[in-house]
Amino acid sequence: RKLAIFASGNGSNFQALADSVQKGTLDAEIVLLVCDKKDAFVIQRAKEAGIPAFSCSPKEYENKAAYEQAILDQLHIADAEMIILAGYMRLIGPTLLSAYRGRIINIHPSLLPAFPGLNAIEQAYEKGVKVTGVTIHYVDEGVDTGPIIAQEALQIEGSEAIETLTARVHRVEHALYPKTIAALLKKSEGVT
Ligand code: GRF
Repeated sequence: RKLAIFASGNGSNFQALADSVQKGTLDAEIVLLVCDKKDAFVIQRAKEAGIPAFSCSPKEYENKAAYEQAILDQLHIADAEMIILAGYMRLIGPTLLSAYRGRIINIHPSLLPAFPGLNAIEQAYEKGVKVTGVTIHYVDEGVDTGPIIAQEALQIEGSEAIETLTARVHRVEHALYPKTIAALLKKSEGVT
């Protein structure tokens, strides 16, 4: 299956997915990285992994629809079947949503519906919750609101520093995302 990954920053989840494809534990092909920040580190990662990257600054387009249409053109050229959001810091608009409805998924570093939006790990930490985690869900027009596909919980230790918690959340993400996508693809095998 042909996947396009959208990311805006570091790209550690992109890396985890690319590594899983390479190891053969994720039976898919990453056909395109879409990145909305021209200097993001994830672009470097794509280069090293030999994955084509389309970096596009929304400011260079007249409006969001034109920006997303430019992305859509690239997705079609690459023949991408699914969109995997991995730290893409932008809402998906109607242009992409209608073209890929039910075929866009996202990873979020909290147990949704708790702590949607930005800085979810910090939000959970500051709130003092004892359990947090990672959610993978389908994307709809809201912020982190679509139907949930998978979740994994983590206990927060009383004395834990935010840095350790953050590292643990990311470790869970890097394992759960490839595993969940592999299971999704398996389930939809033979479905056209
Ligand atoms: C991850 O925590 C992901 O859950 C969130 O943004 C972060 C991206 O990190 N949506 P990275 O760029 O994959 O390292």
